[in-house]
Amino acid sequence: MRTIISLSLLPLALALSNGVGKTPAMGWNPYNAFLCATTEAEYHSAAQNLVNLGLNKLGYNYFNLDCGWQSTARTSSGQITWDTTILPSGVPALGTFVHNLGLKFGVYSDGGVFACDFVGGTAHYVGSLGHETADAQTFATWGADYLKYDNCYAVNSTDFVDDNPPIQLEPHYATMENALSATGRPILFSACEWGVQDPARWPASTVANSWRIANDIGPPASWDNLFRIINQLVPITQFAGPGGFNDLDLLEVGNTGLTAAEQQTHFAFWAAAKSPLFISTDLTNPSTQTLSILQNQRIIAVNQDSLGKSIAFKRRYTNDNDVWAGPLSDGSTVVVVINWQNSTRNLTLVLADVGFSSATATDLITGSSLGKLTTSLKQSRRFTANVAAHGSMVLKLTSGVSIAAPTFTFYPATSGTLGGGASTRVVNSSVNVVGFVGNGGTLTFNNVDGGTAGGTKLVSFDYINGDVTFSNTACSNCRNAMVSVNGGAAVQVQMPLSAQSWDILFSGYLVSLSGFKAGKTNTVTLSNPSAFTPDWYRMGVVV
Ligand SMILES: *[C@@H]1O[C@H](CO)[C@@H](O)[C@H](O)[C@H]1NC(C)=O
Ligand SMILES: *[C@@H]1O[C@H](CO)[C@@H](O)[C@H](O)[C@H]1NC(C)=O
Ligand SMILES: *[C@@H]1O[C@H](CO)[C@@H](O)[C@H](O)[C@H]1NC(C)=O
Ligand SMILES: *[C@@H]1O[C@H](CO)[C@@H](O)[C@H](O)[C@H]1NC(C)=O
Repeated sequence: MRTIISLSLLPLALALSNGVGKTPAMGWNPYNAFLCATTEAEYHSAAQNLVNLGLNKLGYNYFNLDCGWQSTARTSSGQITWDTTILPSGVPALGTFVHNLGLKFGVYSDGGVFACDFVGGTAHYVGSLGHETADAQTFATWGADYLKYDNCYAVNSTDFVDDNPPIQLEPHYATMENALSATGRPILFSACEWGVQDPARWPASTVANSWRIANDIGPPASWDNLFRIINQLVPITQFAGPGGFNDLDLLEVGNTGLTAAEQQTHFAFWAAAKSPLFISTDLTNPSTQTLSILQNQRIIAVNQDSLGKSIAFKRRYTNDNDVWAGPLSDGSTVVVVINWQNSTRNLTLVLADVGFSSATATDLITGSSLGKLTTSLKQSRRFTANVAAHGSMVLKLTSGVSIAAPTFTFYPATSGTLGGGASTRVVNSSVNVVGFVGNGGTLTFNNVDGGTAGGTKLVSFDYINGDVTFSNTACSNCRNAMVSVNGGAAVQVQMPLSAQSWDILFSGYLVSLSGFKAGKTNTVTLSNPSAFTPDWYRMGVVV
């Protein structure tokens, strides 16, 4: 369990006023394709290809360095400098090359004693900790338009990567942002501390234009990495706004490890979550499929929408699909439905899950008009053949007719029957929860009203889950609960993080449960035979 020292309770903070990054940054970064070993020729070719392929015209404007460009020593006057084997012509010349192509130039450094490297922390490239003013000035002199600022060796010269450091990381980022600001050159500042200490809630929007929310997506890319990152985004979508965005990490589109359908889902989700979109594949000979994903102007337009709001988590049908949605500046709604199933299937969006009874839809992947949808859209009508395992529906809804949110009768967890090791925990003066449910502990809500008919009911849970995972586990950044109505077969429910700490609620996780009887004699039991569930605040059952 991670300890967070001070949590700001401000829901939204003012964005950084450096005049850049009003919409998510787009461009190219070498890391997922070349790790920390990009050569000068590869840099030149990638920058040239961004232009030759017309990607710059679609918004992919930033050409960035990542790890591996630096020398292991500073100059005699203390200036940060490059590895002359990797970059014989030097960084300023590369900046000029990039600028001459009409692109913006991004550099990379690290808020630690040494920078990250790909040889397990033995290369010892110089870091910027303690050299912020000088390095910011150097970067500005080199014509930098962007700084990605990593987090290796942030604690000391032997602690390579630490996801639970004994120091606060926020000052490292604030110090560098102040130094960048003092140069007078607008430099987009990208904080890359892997989501450690919940930067969205510092809030990082006051010191950076974007902040990584999670550990690396790869390489190698994998579907499990996407699930881990998506679960970690759930509690912080509200922190995205013009000038400050959640960074879900570089794109893996074009790389091995993800199927075509997975790459499409990955791209559309990142775009709609307002993540920076950095292509991170070898552009020498990209496939038609890679380009068609990256060049989708409808999806890029969602990412670059001036409102800057992220899609938010709406509904999870465990092991089946996730429904996310968010507003665009023209009053429309973008919806992403992810198919978690491992096979091609007919996927149904229930419009009520995004708050509408009807709406007019456009498929943003294909551009086709789907017309007016009422009640539900059966994907089979339009694109059964195209929705593979882990594919997605990406829709823009206009003329949506809103429906009223359902009304619930609530049952506090602390009034339930606690079994095994389950126990009550005080969160603060107004909130108590039941914890240690699972691994033998159980929580049963009694006297639950099944209404006049019983049957299937929409149930809402308010819970706390602060179980952050840096690497992939069976349920990365989520916890499983088994839910049983009246002692019937238990249903598995995967509940994402509510925060990175154990004092912030997720409110209104919805699940449909069957087996209710008419009248007020129902029970609902939460358990998990082999792991802990979240901590529970209350359950609501639709009236
Ligand atoms: C560096 O930090 C790590 C993590 O806190 C600690 O275990 C280690 O002892 C420190 N090493 C030195 C040389 O201070
Ligand atoms: C998909 O397959 C993986 C690997 O076999 C498995 O772990 C996972 O549970 C499957 N997912 C679903 C939703 O069936
Ligand atoms: C999807 O629906 C269509 C039309 O109802 C049906 O023909 C097809 O078999 C379904 N596909 C799957 C994978 O269930
Ligand atoms: C108690 O915690 C809940 C959940 O995070 C929060 O909404 C509420 O504002 C807190 N109340 C107090 C008095 O701190």
